[in-house]
Amino acid sequence: MKKIVLFASGSGSNAERIINYFKEDPTVAVSCVLTNKKEAKVLERCKRLKVPAIYFNREAFYTSDTIINFLKAQDTDLIVLAGFLWKIPATLIAAFPNKIINIHPSLLPKYGGKGMYGSHVHQAVKDNGETETGITIHYVNENYDEGGVIHQAKTQLEPTDGPLEIAEKVHQLEYGHFPNVIASLLKDHG
Ligand code: GAR
Repeated sequence: MKKIVLFASGSGSNAERIINYFKEDPTVAVSCVLTNKKEAKVLERCKRLKVPAIYFNREAFYTSDTIINFLKAQDTDLIVLAGFLWKIPATLIAAFPNKIINIHPSLLPKYGGKGMYGSHVHQAVKDNGETETGITIHYVNENYDEGGVIHQAKTQLEPTDGPLEIAEKVHQLEYGHFPNVIASLLKDHG
């Protein structure tokens, strides 16, 4: 049995798709969801979906080994950042080499880096008059949005698309691609 731990900071709509995708799979389990936001909507989703969810604070994440020890104790095979907005500490990356992946709502290297998340990305895409955007699923390293690319997918934009329409198109791409990419990574890792 392969075990996934999801990290999410917000709504958690990707987390929900991933949980549902693996629900009937006897070889993969989403063992829990970790969040850095006490009020995150992902917590309601976890309750409804009956997946354990745990809140942690900045101190636990950056100045202790609590999270690393927890992830090891869970026998975590893959850590998936699904709308998680804090930088991953070097100690966590070193403890799980090539086992932490992130989804970013643009075609990296465009629109990546600190401060580029969620609606900020879609607004910048709109402001620059892009005719396409997309998603990037990538390994996590110590710099925001710079780890090796695993998978990208594109969507076309209309001149009338505003940030909300762009966000919706990007979310649909995410739902269609992210669970599949996770499944094939778990297979490839044996
Ligand atoms: C997703 O679009 C994800 O790509 C983005 O946050 C959204 C979370 O939505 N992540 C980033 O911007 C990371 N830099 P969700 O909480 O509904 O899954």
